[in-house]
Amino acid sequence: MDLILSDLHSNLHALRAVLRFARRRSIERFVLLGDLVGYGAHPNQVLDKVRELRPRFLVRGNHDKVCAGVCEDGDFSLPAHGAAAWTRAHLRPDNARFLAELPEGPLQLDPGYLIAHGSPVDEDAYLLHIREIGRAFEGFQGPLCFFGHTHVPGCFELDEAAGKLNWITLQPGTWFTLQPGCRYLVNPGSVGQPRDRDPRASFLSFDPARRRLRLHRLDYDTDGAARAILSAGLHPTLADRLAQGI
Ligand SMILES: [Fe+2]
Repeated sequence: MDLILSDLHSNLHALRAVLRFARRRSIERFVLLGDLVGYGAHPNQVLDKVRELRPRFLVRGNHDKVCAGVCEDGDFSLPAHGAAAWTRAHLRPDNARFLAELPEGPLQLDPGYLIAHGSPVDEDAYLLHIREIGRAFEGFQGPLCFFGHTHVPGCFELDEAAGKLNWITLQPGTWFTLQPGCRYLVNPGSVGQPRDRDPRASFLSFDPARRRLRLHRLDYDTDGAARAILSAGLHPTLADRLAQGI
């Protein structure tokens, strides 16, 4: 079983809940879709835990790049800009190096699927609009790509024979089997800052042998994560949004 995690965003409280869940199951691979840091108050602790997992399959996110000094944050909101500056100032040098060396997506996993932060054709693009989703499907060959970045869990299904694009809302705890003849772009949602008005940490398990996936939503200590953000002096909206899932 593979565990697909995205957009942890320095939220140690949420990551701890996910790791407790993972300990009770036989997870073969941890797969991370980027944005390990930014927004939250525990970048070093989150990176330490991620590095302990020794994931072979991870790509960088836009916040990882900015916090590592790989690029500028020209399109960030004021709270995100402030959090990135705070993160850069607080990262241990070894964690900053780890972030700076994260690979650019997409990355092909063996066997059988691709991972990207934003889109398989542009790591910083948000897969929200039809044109961008169409470009994404044209930009990779296989049947399946996992992506993050929008913090909204769900699944784009392209039925090529019927020429139809469907949005599939995944039900937590229910298996969804990938259909032969269809191609998929699948978002596990965000562990550390969900934005679908459900504050629970969001992630997926994927069974490559049976070609099926399952969304998980876990309660965690959102108050604790919010208090840590306020204590660190980060923008209060970053704390407030956690309990609302926005
Ligand atoms: Fe993100």
